[in-house]
Amino acid sequence: MLFPKGFTWGAAAAAYQLEGAAAEDGRGPSVWDMFCRQDKAIFSNHTGDVACDHYHRFEDDIALMKQIGLQAYRLSISWSRLLPAGTGLINDRGFEFYDRLIDGLLDAGITPFVTLYHWDMPYELYCRGGWLNPSISQWFADYTTLVAQRYGDRVKHWMTLNEPQCYLTLGHQMGVHAPGLKLGWHDVLRCVHHSLISHGRAVQMLREHCKIKPIIGWAPVGEVKPPYTDSPADVAASRARTMSASKRDLWNNTLFSDPICLGHYPEDALRAWGRDFAKVSQKDLDTIKQPIDFYGVNIYRGQPVKADENGSAVEVEDVPGAPTNAMQWSIQPQALYWGPKFIYERYGLPMYITENGFAGYEWVDTDGMVRDPQRIDYTRRYLGELSRAIAEGIDVRGYFHWSLMDNFEWSDGYRPRFGLVHVDYQTQQRRPKESAMWYSRVIHSNGGHLREPRREALRITLPAVRDRAQAAEAELEPLA
Ligand code: FCB
Repeated sequence: MLFPKGFTWGAAAAAYQLEGAAAEDGRGPSVWDMFCRQDKAIFSNHTGDVACDHYHRFEDDIALMKQIGLQAYRLSISWSRLLPAGTGLINDRGFEFYDRLIDGLLDAGITPFVTLYHWDMPYELYCRGGWLNPSISQWFADYTTLVAQRYGDRVKHWMTLNEPQCYLTLGHQMGVHAPGLKLGWHDVLRCVHHSLISHGRAVQMLREHCKIKPIIGWAPVGEVKPPYTDSPADVAASRARTMSASKRDLWNNTLFSDPICLGHYPEDALRAWGRDFAKVSQKDLDTIKQPIDFYGVNIYRGQPVKADENGSAVEVEDVPGAPTNAMQWSIQPQALYWGPKFIYERYGLPMYITENGFAGYEWVDTDGMVRDPQRIDYTRRYLGELSRAIAEGIDVRGYFHWSLMDNFEWSDGYRPRFGLVHVDYQTQQRRPKESAMWYSRVIHSNGGHLREPRREALRITLPAVRDRAQAAEAELEPLA
């Protein structure tokens, strides 16, 4: 058995990346709506205004999920759809949309895993200081309360924040994601602290206001530095580097996870740049460390390290031509073994892989099919490594492929395609790629299909694809 009984197979997406309907039915602007309006902030000035038009097509999309056989779907709620200004005025039509989406999923037998914050802060709150303003944790708590009161009778699985490492580094330090700030280190750390308190307050509100007992986690980046070889020295260096936070950047695990899971900032971070921290009170730390039920983690890549003569980790540069995805992220399947292993060793919480996937540049072939053998190979290798961790007792409960369908990939716009389902943004036509059919088999066999080396996985199985391929074939002109 490669995966335990009851293992959850899902796919993930996020509100701004696929919903569209940005100015419809009373939704207020988020920082991403405004950032996309800055000339050249986004590849080709793309925006999420329409995205995959999921807001209007969610029923068809749920039908597709059902065809693939997804057991769970990770979605995020757009804060400014519910509260257009972030606080105060409530937008009923926004609440009704998520009613319909969640009910539709449940009717289809698909478990919703709901993320409260996937980067799209209401613009109004940004204008009031956003993550720099200590009031953000109260605003987030109030928003969470409304969400919990409304959906906590049906939704069991929750995640507070998605990847604070990304929205803080890319959005608040480097200025390449919304809201486009380039803050100094001291201010970045303030934003970190306020994010962590907001997480803690949201956990409290979910516990207080959900009708059914919530299962709560979060979804940070998993920064993994896999060992270059299996030698004890390389593994020790890899463990130490993966779990350290002494470099002056946020690309690490422990700066966020130690406060959340252990109740204090990591010692190496305090030693390295303690004076840059704003005053941190014990009360704050107590708020941050709420008991959580799982550790969600998003892992795509890894930077291998080896031990030098002193045992310290040194990064191993990629060899020229080493495989990457369309984002130029290196392919390192073993990250899905070492990442969960090191994180589990330190925090001992049940885990979910809340994101993992491959960006390609697929197009529709002349026969109407979308072929993506690299995504299949990528996923097969990563899942193989994950199963190795599980076999060693790492308590991983589920896997969410990023993403259900091609969508708005932040500053890269619509260029890279991460979906199991291809989206034609002109017509909004969805076409399941070969990987969707392959993943469907993986799900139905609870991972058994990963052992299957043959490509017969690619026989057309999903009705939507079969019908379309037949239609396309009938229309095809023979090539000259
Ligand atoms: C992660 C984000 C997600 C998506 C993937 C490719 O960093 O959480 O929204 O963009 O990367």
